[in-house]
Formats: sequence, C-alpha cells, structure tokens
Amino acid sequence: MIINSVWVTWPALVKYGTLGVAGAALIIGLERGELLENNMISTEDFELANEGIVCDERSHTARTEDGTCNILENPSEGSVHMRFGRNVELQAAFGETEDGTLLSPNPREVSNSLMKREQFKPATSVNFIAASWIQFMVHDWVSHGPNATDNDIEVPLPSGDPLGTGVMSVQRTTADPDRSVEDDAYLPATYRNHNTHWWDGSQLYGSNKETNDSVRSFEDGKLAIESDGTLPTDFWSGVPVTGFSDNWWLGLSMMHQLFTLEHNAIADKLKENYPNATDQWLFDKSRLINSALMAKIHTVEWTPAIIANPALELSMEANWWGIARNPETRDLIQNVTDDIKGPNSWLINTIALFDPEKAEQLSTPGAIDHILGGLVGQSKPNNYDVPYVLTEEFVAVYRMHPLLRDAVDIYDIGSNVVSERINIEDTRDGDAEDILDNQGGDRLWYSFGITHPGSLTLNNYPEFLRNLSMPLIGDIDLATIDIIRDRERGVPRYNEFRRQIGLNPITKFEDLTEDPTTLTELKRVYNNDIEQIDALVGQLAETVRPDGFAFGETAFQVFILNASRRLMTDRFYTESYTPEVYTQEGIDWVENNTMVDVIRRHFPELELSLTGVDNAFKPWGLKIPDNYKEWSACDKEQLLWTNGAMRTEYDAGERPGLTDVDIGGLINTVLWEKVNRKDDVAPLGYEKPIHAHAAMATTTFEPASGHPYTGVFKGAECGLLRLSVTGDPNDRGFAPGLAWKVFVDGRNSRNVSALYTLSGQGGNHDFFANELSQYVDKEVNETLGTTALFSLVSTKPTTLSVEKMAKVRADGTKESSVVTPTQVYFVPRPEVKGLFSSASHDFRDDLESLPEGTPIYDVYATSEKIRTSIFPYFHKKYAKSRRDSAKKVGTIRLSSEFISSAFGDGGVFFNHQRVEDQ
Ligand code: HEM
Repeated sequence: MIINSVWVTWPALVKYGTLGVAGAALIIGLERGELLENNMISTEDFELANEGIVCDERSHTARTEDGTCNILENPSEGSVHMRFGRNVELQAAFGETEDGTLLSPNPREVSNSLMKREQFKPATSVNFIAASWIQFMVHDWVSHGPNATDNDIEVPLPSGDPLGTGVMSVQRTTADPDRSVEDDAYLPATYRNHNTHWWDGSQLYGSNKETNDSVRSFEDGKLAIESDGTLPTDFWSGVPVTGFSDNWWLGLSMMHQLFTLEHNAIADKLKENYPNATDQWLFDKSRLINSALMAKIHTVEWTPAIIANPALELSMEANWWGIARNPETRDLIQNVTDDIKGPNSWLINTIALFDPEKAEQLSTPGAIDHILGGLVGQSKPNNYDVPYVLTEEFVAVYRMHPLLRDAVDIYDIGSNVVSERINIEDTRDGDAEDILDNQGGDRLWYSFGITHPGSLTLNNYPEFLRNLSMPLIGDIDLATIDIIRDRERGVPRYNEFRRQIGLNPITKFEDLTEDPTTLTELKRVYNNDIEQIDALVGQLAETVRPDGFAFGETAFQVFILNASRRLMTDRFYTESYTPEVYTQEGIDWVENNTMVDVIRRHFPELELSLTGVDNAFKPWGLKIPDNYKEWSACDKEQLLWTNGAMRTEYDAGERPGLTDVDIGGLINTVLWEKVNRKDDVAPLGYEKPIHAHAAMATTTFEPASGHPYTGVFKGAECGLLRLSVTGDPNDRGFAPGLAWKVFVDGRNSRNVSALYTLSGQGGNHDFFANELSQYVDKEVNETLGTTALFSLVSTKPTTLSVEKMAKVRADGTKESSVVTPTQVYFVPRPEVKGLFSSASHDFRDDLESLPEGTPIYDVYATSEKIRTSIFPYFHKKYAKSRRDSAKKVGTIRLSSEFISSAFGDGGVFFNHQRVEDQ
C-alpha cells in the first residue's frame, strides 16, 4: 500500500500509538533537516552591517536593546533593521508589479469573494487568548514598519463592490533604503525588519535604546507601571507606552499589561535574593527570564493548543526540554529510537508503506540520531551556516487575521451569559485601556478564556478588518492588503510556494476542498488556473489538515523551520541558557511557570476559573483535578457550581424546551475532562435518559435539633439541589423529581433522589404541590419503566438507600454508630408551598424566581421498616404509619438562586445508592 496523496504522510502514522507518534516526529525532523539545508537564504551583507558594532561586557550576559551581539562573532545577526531573509529560492522571490500580475486576479475581488465573513466560524479547540497571543508574538518578531506614503497601488474596485466604483489605494511597503545597485542586483526586493528578529520580548522592551528607556522605571530593574497596575499611556493616542504598539486593541492591552506585571514580579524575586544588585542587572536578568518564559509558553503551550497533535506535542516538547537538556524527555526519545533503528524496524517498514522516500532517508546510518540530535537541542547556537533572520515567507504564514472575532463578548467571572458585547472596532487604540480599566483584567481574561477565535479558513475574515479605519491613512481593507503584500514581496503563489518548501503541489482545485460553493468561487476568481491561487488563499482553503491542526501543512512547513531556528540560533536559548547567565531563580522561573500560572499570579480572582486548566489557550471549562476528592466540601461545591453550572448557564432564549431531550450536542460544546470520577460529574456525552432538564441551586442543610440520624443529617454547609421533571409534562403528566448532593470534606459526596410518585401529579404543574420521597410505590401502569428511572438494576428499583448519608459527617468524620432512616420526605416549605400556579407552564421559571436564602424543603425521616402489602388498605396503612412517625431532621435552604445550565442538565451526576449496596 503506497499512499499517493498531495498531503504529507506523517499524520497517518500517529494512529499507531507511541511508536507511530515518534515516527511522525522523526519525519517532521527529517523535513526540518531538509529545510535547514535548502530553504534558508540570506539577503544581507552582514560584514557591512557589523561595521562599528562593539559588543561590550554587558552584552555577554544580557540581551541588547537592538538585538546586536547575540552572536558575538557576527554581531548584527538577528538585530533590528536586518533584512528579512527568504525560505524560497531567490529566483522565485521577485515581487509582482502592476506591469505583471500584482493586480491579477483583482485582490479586492479575492477579498470580497473568498475572504468575506458571512457568518462567524469559530475554532472550537482553542480560546480567544490564543488569538491575541499570536499577535503579541508576531509583534516581538516582525514588522515591515510604516508603509510608503507615495506611489500607492491603485486597486480598481470590482463590479458590484459595496464601496461603489473607482479605485482603492493601498500604500506600498517601504522599500529597503540601503540597496546597493551593484552588489544587490541579483536580489529580489528586500525589506527591513523594524523589530529585532530574536525572540527577546522586543514587543515589550522595544528594539532600540530610546524605546527601551521609555518603558523602564529605572528602579529595581522594573518596567514602568501606574500604581493601579495599568500601563502608562501616550498622552495623545491613549495607547500604552510599550516596546511595539502598532495595531493596538484590547487583546494587546491585556497581554502587555500581563507580561509587564510578570517582568516586575521577576524583578521583585531577584531583588529579594540579590538585594545589592543594580537596577541594570536586575532589568537585564528580568528581561532574559521573561522573554524565555514567553518563548517557552509559545513552544510547549500555544503551539500544541493550536496544532493539537501528539506528534507535534512531542516535537515541541523536545524543542524546549531538549534545549533545557531535560534528561527525562531525552531518555524517552532515546528509548524509542532503540526500538526503531534495527533492520527489522516495524516503524521504518510502516513508514515505507506511506512514504518510501522518507523511509529510505531514515534508514541511512545515523539519520535518526542526527534528527534527534536536532530535536533535543544544542549546547551551542547553530545557524546551519546561514545567519539567523526571520523571512518574508514566515511573515506570510502568520497572516492569521481570521482568528479575530468581530466583537468581544464579556462575561461575569464564572458565567456563561454574555453581559456585554463590544465590537473589536471599538476596542482599538486608546479605547483598549479604557475598557481594560472599566471591565477589569480578570473579567476580560475570563471572557477571552471561554470564547473562541475564528477558524483559519476561507470566508472567515472579520468584517471590521475589511473596513479598518487607520489614523492618517483612512479606511483600508486588510484582506485585500494581505493578498497584495504577499504578491508585492515576492512570496510565491500557493502552488509554487509548496514546491519551493518541499511539499507536493496540488493538481486540481478539488485537492483543497470539497465544498461546492468554495470550489466554484475559487475556480471563477482564479480563472480555473491552480497556479494563480494566492499563498494565503490556498493556505486558508486547505481542508485536509493533520488531526487537531487549526491550520494546514503549508503554513506548518514554514513553522517547522522558523520555530526551531528561533531557538537553535539564539545564544540565550542555547549556550547561555544557564544559571550563570539567567541565575538559578531565573531558570527555575522559566521552567516551572506556565501561562496559567502567570494569569493566576496577576489575577488571583481567576483561581477557581483556572482550576484544573492545564493549557490556558484551550477553552476554559470544568476540569476535575486529580486530588478533587480530597478537597473541602465547599470548594468542591464552588468548583462544580462556578465552572460547571454557571459556566454553562443557558443564555436567554437558549434554554432547551422540556420536550427536547437531545442535549448531547450542547454538552459536548463544554469541555469537562476526567469526568468519570466518582459521583459528581457524568461521563462526557452522558445523557440523562429521563429528568433531562432541570434547574439547580447550591444549598445548605440546617439540621433540626433532637433527631437521631447521623452523618450529613447533622448538617451540611454545601450541596447542590437539582429539581427536574421526569419527561414532557404535557405528554405524561407533571412528575417532579429531586436530586440532592451533599459535599463532604475529603470524601465522596452523598446523594439522594426523590419523587412524588413514578407517574407524577397529573396536570398540576406546581412543583411544590406535593412532598417527595426516595421511596415510591411501584405502579402497574407506569409508562416510563421503573428500572430506567434509577438507571440501575436493582431488586428494589423504587427505593434508594440513604445509609451512606448517615455514615459520614460533612466534615468527613466517620460515625462510629450509624443511625440511618429508612425513608426520607422532602416537604415543601411554607415559603414555596402554594406560591406557584398549577396551570401548564415551565416550572424552571418558577424556580429561577426564588431568591437566594429561600428555605425550600423540610426534610423528615423515619426509621420504621418499609413494609408493603398487595392489599391496598394495608399498604396505605403502613405508608401512613411511616409518615406519621417521621421527625423533622432539618431544612434545605438555597445558598444561590436556581439556574438552568448544560451542566445542570447533563453534566452533574447524582449517584444512586442501591439498597443492596448498603
Ligand atoms: C485588531 C487586531 C489587528 C489589527 C487592527 C491588525 C492590523 C494590521 C495591519 C494594519 C497590518 C499591516 C498591513 C500592511 O501591510 O499595510 C497588519 C499586518 C500583519 N498582521 Fe495584523 N492586525 C490585527 C491582528 C492580527 C493578528 C491576531 C495576527 C495573528 C498572527 C496578525 C498578524 C499580522 C501579520 C503577520 C502582519 C504582517 C506584518 C508585516 O508585514 O510585517 N494581526 N495587521
């Protein structure tokens, strides 16, 4: 079986478990090796650039402001104003002009037809933090600087354009001012990076001394920050004074504030341990540490979130931990290699089925070690003999504007109900800081954490960016500009781009997508010629993507090379990534902190929302941590309530109808992991077969004095009460049911469920018309199926035991002598009895109107034996006797309002204790 496909083959290996994943990582490594050999082309005269640069003593252990002296032997390498390099051969990199194909097909037509967002398409595997993060990173790496103000490119407006007729003017990229007519004649147009090429936090620290000075406080190594924790702003624009402040909006205000605070936290820590250190020393170390932390977060958190594939996770971790020379990961990889290097290697043979060429390359002696040598990092910087700079192709694949939403949805912390919607257009420039100030960072981080960015596909370009008003420039269409920029800067069109970077070209439009509308538009716009497809359009059109990838393999191929190079070539991530240069505290800070830690440190109010969240870029939701059971009762209640119920509360109008029992889809939009933990959370995708819809509240249980029952009947501060009906009340009659969960410190929760009767109370829709009990009579004509009712096989399907409730107190103490009721009754309190109509209506509205603090049920209990009789007279008599003997054991009081939520409907789980399990 040889698989002939345009697309890369390594994803097919991943399904073969650990070895397959390692194999896929090897192929990626092989790919990178080839790219390192063939696809790094320098366009700079470094000798000339090095003239006059003096690397002083400080630069040996600190990053310089302009990025010089990272490589002491070639000090201008990677510094600001160095030209962008290329990842395609120079002959393929000559820019398009108006005389040729620059305007063909019309880039505005491409924007109108293939980019325009009709309906927002979310990328559901990541959250909106991931979108602002990548812009924040891009601003560390690249900028072509302000555009030229003369000689605009005039794009004719295509027919039917919403802007009418005429032309759209687009400024050109500013030309390289230092071209030598003779020496550079062989080169395509070159452009200079206005930021340092290094991964050095220049978006915070600036790319020159003047900017760097403007952001520092010059006290204890810190960056300047106002006393309220906001960044100082520019008087005229209201935009923060920071290292790089172009294209500002709310997401950047949040990122810059967070990592400025982080810098200062690092400086505080260093000051504590090195009290006599100078401001400059503290600043330099803090910058090194903060920048490395950002690089690590990007490598082992952002990237695996946006390309969530195990082969990638392995490669990225090896990229980072290899550099740290972490023995654990290296050992793991080396163990795997021993398995795969032998002549009868299953892996090589399997790879041969998919990609004989790659298998052959891998089977040459030493190839695997060589690749892994690269993967596990270097102890010396290695630029593979081509000075390090970022490339035009790298810029091109980071044109990820479809990640942006058109509006920021703001939520109260914990809630799932949008409290405010602000168009991103209105969060730009000076407005960003006002919003950050008014809303508070914690609400905004939470809101970004639970919402999704747009997916990187065609027809998903945010409208506001297609109508972007730019100071001093006017309105622009960024989608049109994105297309023009690649053409102008000589980034080859899609198919040639693929050839150039070692990928197979596509042979037909259908390779890209099967969507008929998109295909028709692609063929129309590109005149049926696959060679004309723009690089960006092709990338967004790729629908065959490795599992978990938010973007396709074309962009990925460019990342493989540049992501690794950013680390491999930087002295401060290789040779100088040591305690001597960073301090031990610094290395520990980088290694031991994650994005979650950083957010939590500066926004401690988010502690609960971040519980169990191990990747801050994936949608925040309910995650049950491993030690959940050991938690205190009320912490467990709060976790389930805040990250479960409130987090999935139905927005107005979205509450499913009582008849609608198919809630699987809804639940699956909410991520809760490790869900089959005992009792409290249902397995993912679990649907309650009956009692599908409910309202839920948190409760306290106030014990009555003088009753004999033990355990949680003695009182419990924290619990959940879920009130539901069995099925569709208009169909089967109104059958109220209750599930009550009492949380216990350090132990599993205790649960009980109760009904009025199996078939309910007929046409009476007043939830509190009757008392409920965990023991109900069997009914001959009961339509729902009693066994299904308690979802278990039991000899006594209509009786639940409450013995476990009596065995342990809410503080976790075990009772030495247990007194268990046989039957408990939930008796509606006078406060709710008769309060609601008996006519047909949705009971959840009633419940949701009850204020927090309402006492809702008195709990009565008896220990008389449950006796039954086939003779109704006696049966009733026994029941009456039990009820009459029941004593009040306490009152359930609401400690929140009732809400209805996807978690309350399908996520929360109430264990039923069977009688035989006592
Ligand atoms: C509100 C948010 C954003 C605004 C207003 C914005 C605006 C812009 C503008 C005006 C340009 C320059 C266009 C030109 O060449 O004339 C640009 C370039 C670019 N943007 Fe964005 N952008 C935003 C978000 C993002 C995001 C989320 C990414 C994700 C990676 C991104 C990546 C890029 C890249 C790679 C470039 C090219 C940079 C260069 O040519 O050196 N932008 N953006």
